Amino acid sequence: MAAVFPIKPVWDQPGSSRIPFWAYTDEALYKRELERLFYQGHWCYVGLEAEIPNPGDYKRSVIGERSVILTRAADGSVNVVENVCAHRGMQFCRERHGNKKEFVCPYHQWSYTLKGDLQGVPFRRGVRQDGKVNGGMPKDFETADHGLNKLKVAVRGGVVFASFDHEVESLEDFLGPDMCAYFDRLFNGRKLTVLGYNRQRIPGNWKLMQENIKDPYHPGLLHTWFVTYGLWRADNKSQLKMDAHHRHAAMISTRSGQAATSEVTAGVTSFKAGMDVNDKRLLDIVPEEWWKGPTAVMMTVFPSVIFQQQVNSVSTRHIQPNGAGSFDFVWTHFGFEDDTPEMTQRRLIQANLFGPAGFVSADDGEVIELSQCGFEQKPCHRTLAELGGTGVENTDHMVTETLIRGMYEYWRKVMDV
Ligand SMILES: [Fe+2]
Repeated sequence: MAAVFPIKPVWDQPGSSRIPFWAYTDEALYKRELERLFYQGHWCYVGLEAEIPNPGDYKRSVIGERSVILTRAADGSVNVVENVCAHRGMQFCRERHGNKKEFVCPYHQWSYTLKGDLQGVPFRRGVRQDGKVNGGMPKDFETADHGLNKLKVAVRGGVVFASFDHEVESLEDFLGPDMCAYFDRLFNGRKLTVLGYNRQRIPGNWKLMQENIKDPYHPGLLHTWFVTYGLWRADNKSQLKMDAHHRHAAMISTRSGQAATSEVTAGVTSFKAGMDVNDKRLLDIVPEEWWKGPTAVMMTVFPSVIFQQQVNSVSTRHIQPNGAGSFDFVWTHFGFEDDTPEMTQRRLIQANLFGPAGFVSADDGEVIELSQCGFEQKPCHRTLAELGGTGVENTDHMVTETLIRGMYEYWRKVMDV
């Protein structure tokens, strides 16, 4: 009888179209992903400038499994520091966000500026008692040597990325010209406003979330909402584009006035011809000038974030892994400072399609959880991502899994598997 568990995970398939189930379940491999993808060589999303508009504002965030703090210092600069005290290692910041003049670790009251420089150490020069000085830090102790770990920071269009790796390439090179253009389409310099958050914990491997937004095959099949109201269907005009490394991608789709029923809805069980929404505001879509055509652009920036435009709903979706089989998924719904009150209301109402209980996204959370269940039960097996062939290329249709193959081609290289 063949062994149920491989002794050592070996990817014995050619190319990247058949992904072993252990790629989603192996804890040692997951630790390597944190090191090579989240902590080295990549820019990771931490938040929006709009979340820290004033000097002293801060927001706790995370890169991989490491807690970090996004701050606005007194001089207006944007900083990201690791949430680990230089003294005894305590994760000192517990609030999600706030405003402070300085950070003070509660354990021994070491204090830091908002840029992460150590400024105060209690009893540094000892304590005077009976005419002599007791204790204190060594004479050669320099506060300059014991600040918080400062990350490299890049801000573009109001979006803040950071990296533990100070040798990382520029954010623009990291994204590449094609992805940069789609990024700038959404974040084109207008000031952002934060409309609200959703948070959920999904019991599945973090890569499944990247794959979900690199998978244009499923939306018109899984999501009743998309296929019934034509927001995302296989016969929409569409393009799939990747960066040169095939790690990032954009799925670009334009809703057209197709017949409600056609060959792409025939036999699709999620298509509900007679379904109607009571609240018509959910489908009150108003085209915006900055769209320049597409009604939806879904961007995956590897490994940490998804940028969403689905008609008038725009959001960032932050992937925060915690173990091979689980990740937190944090949605930040935003708008633009020059939006009319009506447009803000429209964005908020359309945001009901997304988030943990969204009319669309609730489906994704569930299929990710159940995919992970399948992987756990049959570790020697593999997925099949061969729609559209086994190669990796940009396409002008969405009947392909090319973006998933692209991501695993890159993953195999960096992960050395
Ligand atoms: Fe989906």
